[in-house]
Amino acid sequence: MRTHYCGELSAKLVGQSVTLAGWAHRRRDHGGVIFIDLRDREGLAQVVCDPDRENAFKTAERVRGEFVLKITGRVRRRPDGTVNPDLRSGEVEVLAHEVEILNTSLTPPFQLDDDNISETVRLENRVIDLRREPMQRNLRLRHRAATAARRFLDEHGFIDIETPFLYKSTPEGAREFLVPSRIHDGQFYALPQSPQLFKQMLMIAGFDRYYQIVKCFRDEDLRADRQPEFTQIDVETSFLDEHEIRALMESLVRHMFREASGIELPDPFPVMTYDDAVRDYGLDKPDLRVPLRLTELTDVMKDVDFKVFSGPANATGGRVVGLRIPGGGSLTRGEIDVYTEYVKTLGSRGLAWIKVNARAKGAEGLQSPIVKNLHARAITAILERSGAADGDLIFFGAEKGDIVNETIGSLRQKVGHERGLAEQGWRPLWVVDFPMFEYDDASQQWKARHHPFTSPKDGHEHFIESAPGQAYAKAYDVVLNGWEIGGGSVRIHREEVQQQVLRALKISAEDQRAKFGFLLDALQYGAPPHGGIAFGFDRLVAMMAGAEAIRDVIAFPKTQRGQDLLTGAPSAVGEGQLRDLHIRLRNPPQ
Ligand code: AMO
Repeated sequence: MRTHYCGELSAKLVGQSVTLAGWAHRRRDHGGVIFIDLRDREGLAQVVCDPDRENAFKTAERVRGEFVLKITGRVRRRPDGTVNPDLRSGEVEVLAHEVEILNTSLTPPFQLDDDNISETVRLENRVIDLRREPMQRNLRLRHRAATAARRFLDEHGFIDIETPFLYKSTPEGAREFLVPSRIHDGQFYALPQSPQLFKQMLMIAGFDRYYQIVKCFRDEDLRADRQPEFTQIDVETSFLDEHEIRALMESLVRHMFREASGIELPDPFPVMTYDDAVRDYGLDKPDLRVPLRLTELTDVMKDVDFKVFSGPANATGGRVVGLRIPGGGSLTRGEIDVYTEYVKTLGSRGLAWIKVNARAKGAEGLQSPIVKNLHARAITAILERSGAADGDLIFFGAEKGDIVNETIGSLRQKVGHERGLAEQGWRPLWVVDFPMFEYDDASQQWKARHHPFTSPKDGHEHFIESAPGQAYAKAYDVVLNGWEIGGGSVRIHREEVQQQVLRALKISAEDQRAKFGFLLDALQYGAPPHGGIAFGFDRLVAMMAGAEAIRDVIAFPKTQRGQDLLTGAPSAVGEGQLRDLHIRLRNPPQ
């Protein structure tokens, strides 16, 4: 039907006859001559219809936005002064000989080149939205990234094996989506949060290297970087240790960025332990583009005459830190109030601060509501440890350690970006040596930080039951510019260690059998040492695309409230369907 894509036209084709097919992006009537910008997936081409070609001209008069057209004509150079350097085909135009309307279109709900359309309107009209150039670009980038990943993994001996979506409810962390069984009254499948246990069983089955680009399902609170169904590049290997797995997976990430988007990531990625990350940055996924660090002050605040600091400094698990903002002395009270409100939304009670006007003068040179409550030793520690200079401001966090880490860690990134302190570019890192467990205050129990199949570090086995808080894991995350883009671990391959972990998590023998007896059984038949990782594919592509939300790199995403505004899912279903599934609604819709 066509000889060329619109976007492919160039001066090389001048004089040739071409047939194009696509959508009428714009139509302009210039008194006697009609211009149509014809669009296809490769771009735009300017088509000129003049009255000399009567049929073509008459048809062109009927064309409206988004009509589907087939146009045959001759390529010619655009007259001097009308070349469009922003367009791939901008040097040429097509003088139409034939114009055929293949289909008409209603007036679209918005202009395709309008960049200020609300996301709700875009998602309600996703088909039209996907015609827009940025969306076309993002989805093609996504395709290139997937292809690059597949090629790399194939070349490195990984094989793509599919695993079930109708799965069994297992305790992996997030809340699951359930699918009621029609055949088995009262029983449910669960949609997998990840293929974790299947990929481990594939290692036990001897496949050695597995991968899958696969949908995962989690019923969690949604955010810019979270969807209820999202895609992982899921990988598992046998007979490789943690360092070998990380080295291989790091080259995969570098390969994808280079091949799909021409971005060169640093080689190698720096490695930081979880403890160091939290100590220096508050968060286990620090954005290293922001060159600020937390200053530890817990030790010097124990005996200050200021309960806000001495309280947490003396409490078990409490922490006091400073955050130096270079040049922050110019922050107004109003700006400081905005940051205070921000940390409050994250669970903090407030935000103390000191402005350093003249450091050499000690306490005299400081401006702050709290300075009078701090002794000289504390003030010296604040200034020396933070390296404060005249004109700086220091924020303080003093509460339970995890609240300080979360709030001041997040504030570090927010202030860093808003005050123009962040570097440009790409700052990947590995965060390694995560604690195996974390204590859950609500249930008063230890929970697995990664998942319960993660191996302890060598020599940490004996902590698992005796001191779970001291057991560290062979677990690792990849972080890029503050986004967690992947996480994995070496797995437990010996059944007795797996049993220890399940006992530490207080999962009864009965529950173990019911929930993952299949894995425990498989582990008894010669499980090889194995480990792997899963990358958040949507997040990787969003980073390459410079998109703020992963919704922009997913063709048909859900809103923050888990709705698909295009199809209207979730939706009510008929009584018959419910009856088949043995479900009775307590409050049926009217
Ligand atoms: P984890 O739960 O860390 O590990 O998930 C791996 C990566 O998937 C991405 N991710 C998400 N992306 C979008 N929306 C979500 N709701 C979402 N949840 C997670 C993140 C994350 O780093 N089975 C293990 C992997 C392993 O151990 O091999 C797992 O699923 O980028």
